[in-house]
Amino acid sequence: MLTKLILAIMPKLPQSFIWKFSKKYIVGKTLDKALEVSKSMNDDGYIITIDLLGEFIKDRSEAEQTKEDYLEIVEALHKHNIKGGISVKPTFFGLLIDEELCFTNIREVVRKANEYNIFVRIDMEDSSCTDRELEIYEKLHVEFPGIVGIVLQAYLHRTYDDIERLQKIHTTENPINIRLCKGIYIEDKSIAYQSYEDINNNFIKLLDKLFEIRAYVGIATHDKNLVKAAYELLEKHEVSKSLYEFQMLYGVETRLRKRIHNQGHLMKVYLPFGKDWFGYCVRRLQENPNMVSDIIKSIFK
Ligand code: FDA
Repeated sequence: MLTKLILAIMPKLPQSFIWKFSKKYIVGKTLDKALEVSKSMNDDGYIITIDLLGEFIKDRSEAEQTKEDYLEIVEALHKHNIKGGISVKPTFFGLLIDEELCFTNIREVVRKANEYNIFVRIDMEDSSCTDRELEIYEKLHVEFPGIVGIVLQAYLHRTYDDIERLQKIHTTENPINIRLCKGIYIEDKSIAYQSYEDINNNFIKLLDKLFEIRAYVGIATHDKNLVKAAYELLEKHEVSKSLYEFQMLYGVETRLRKRIHNQGHLMKVYLPFGKDWFGYCVRRLQENPNMVSDIIKSIFK
């Protein structure tokens, strides 16, 4: 109820106020700030993936700008010797305007990243994009071995079949690279599990399958129960350290993050930055009502 109310009034609140509680989850508004945080994360032993905020654009010139911005990020990661890569959202590269344009734009960024051996993760967006985003991945995986990965969402009923589909491009020399997460968009119950239990059960089933086929897996969760289940599956399949990492979002569950890292697992932190932070924060709020308490604290601070 309170979350709904806050979501409804958010667009009317001054951005400076919303920034007060959002900044916990956004590394900053500029690339310089993102690089500074990346370096300090690297110093603490974490690898990173940088996400320039923005999505669902409707203008070709914006897609061009996204490509240029990401090329600059790739150059900067190389120049500053940052351990990590980038995450890209195809709708920010023009997926909804022209699929070919989007593919060409992302491919150009991947080509540059490949020169420097910098990893590129294709984020997964809502279910209207799933097939098209898988197709982009399939092409780039074959053209740039070891450089590109995709995201699969455990809430979607279709995901087990998607893994089987991706097995066609999966080899020991060039394993598919999957970030497995629960899924953040609001999807209909005809295509997506809705309850915590169903989503978690499917997450575990999918993780089991990915380990079994020896895919590279980014286990992306802040859920202690899933981390525990992942530990059990890592043991069951005797997964080599070269075939998995854990992943968490900046600002979320930092104690758990530290614990996993201290237990000797590779941990990648997702660092969102940029001017377009508002939509990202609204989604975090829809997903995680605990953030309401952050907002209330900001009101009274
Ligand atoms: P769950 O939501 O059950 O949370 C477990 C615990 O963490 C709870 O205590 C909760 O309060 C806290 N928590 C979780 N998320 C939080 C948040 N955002 N802010 C504050 N506290 C939070 N989704 C997608 O559809 N496409 C994608 O490409 C990606 N990419 C991605 C990358 C990485 C590195 C991560 C970690 C996640 C994503 N996601 C995503 C988001 C993912 O689908 C999912 O919505 C969130 O990770 C929340 O699910 P959890 O598994 O963390 O469990």
